[in-house]
Amino acid sequence: MDTKQSGVYRRWDDGFVVRRMKKGEEQQVIGWFGSIEAMPSDLELAIDMRGDYIDVDSFYVGELNGEMIASLVQTPIADDLVYVSAIYVDERHRKLGLTRRMINTAQEVEERKNRIATSVLDSYEHLVSVYEKFGYRSAAKTTTYQGTVSANATQERFGTDVAEVGDADLNRLISYDDKCFIRPGSTWRREFLTRWIKIPGGRAVMAVSQDEVVGYGCRRPSITADGHHFIGPLYADSYGISWDLVQELTSDVIGQTVSMTVVEPNVEALRLVDEMKLKDTEPMIRMFRDGQPKTLSPQIVAITSDTVCGF
Ligand SMILES: CC(C)(COP(=O)(O)OP(=O)(O)OC[C@H]1O[C@@H](n2cnc3c(N)ncnc32)[C@H](O)[C@@H]1OP(=O)(O)O)[C@@H](O)C(=O)NCCC(=O)NCCS
Repeated sequence: MDTKQSGVYRRWDDGFVVRRMKKGEEQQVIGWFGSIEAMPSDLELAIDMRGDYIDVDSFYVGELNGEMIASLVQTPIADDLVYVSAIYVDERHRKLGLTRRMINTAQEVEERKNRIATSVLDSYEHLVSVYEKFGYRSAAKTTTYQGTVSANATQERFGTDVAEVGDADLNRLISYDDKCFIRPGSTWRREFLTRWIKIPGGRAVMAVSQDEVVGYGCRRPSITADGHHFIGPLYADSYGISWDLVQELTSDVIGQTVSMTVVEPNVEALRLVDEMKLKDTEPMIRMFRDGQPKTLSPQIVAITSDTVCGF
């Protein structure tokens, strides 16, 4: 089957098809997950970034008799690392083995390209046994902390020099990101951050000391829940810097909701969410397959996104 022409990866006799997701269809995925939790625009940005690159196989749709009923997203962080997310099957079609088909097809596509990449995903605790069936192993706890931005907290700061990130800052911001990110020099990451720092309705700030970047953070709005904002990445050299960055990022959304996702153990990150009076939501378990990813740098206070880049 010529996947490049048809966009179809695999067909079954019962009418189920796994194919390439078209731009615009991510809205269905956002709608599905939006009924479970607040959703950012991350999938929109990621599918826009994939664009028409026919060789990038990262967004999968499961279709039955012409109806989109399943999804899986596999973000190519680097040649040897993918982040898997947005695994969903419409309620009417669960427990019929469709997720098995989606995961196996995405894996076959990788194998056809001779790519042996480590896959990482964050699973709800109750679904760990599902992913174990596909060879995933548990590595760490990934928890999203959420709460209301308090006006009192924003008054006390550690005196870090914090500035808005502009286009001219991109290279030094990426140099700093390379010191913390799991795959320094990732071309995907560079293209991604170029867009990420400019997400409409969002903000990006960086901390500077003696002309060196010592931390940065981004905030982006939810597109499914009014007054809800996501913080990530939040990367910083010290607790004081992360605190000052987050105070700046939240200074114009006081009284609104923020959430950020922490991969444990990261004692300073847990101290930050505690001081901010954010509460933990449903815990997730970080799982991996085909190689164990290294422990995240302690500078990673909040990961970039639990939808497209959990690092
Ligand atoms: C989780 C989800 C994707 C599973 O989809 P599915 O198509 O029903 O899964 P499958 O039928 O392919 O099942 C694969 C295996 O997992 C098992 N399984 C499926 N759902 C399960 C559940 N809720 N609890 C325990 N095991 C489960 C199946 O029994 C099957 O095992 P088997 O092959 O040994 O029989 C689906 O329930 C869903 O969309 N949930 C809502 C969204 C969500 O939570 N996504 C995951 C984010 S981490």
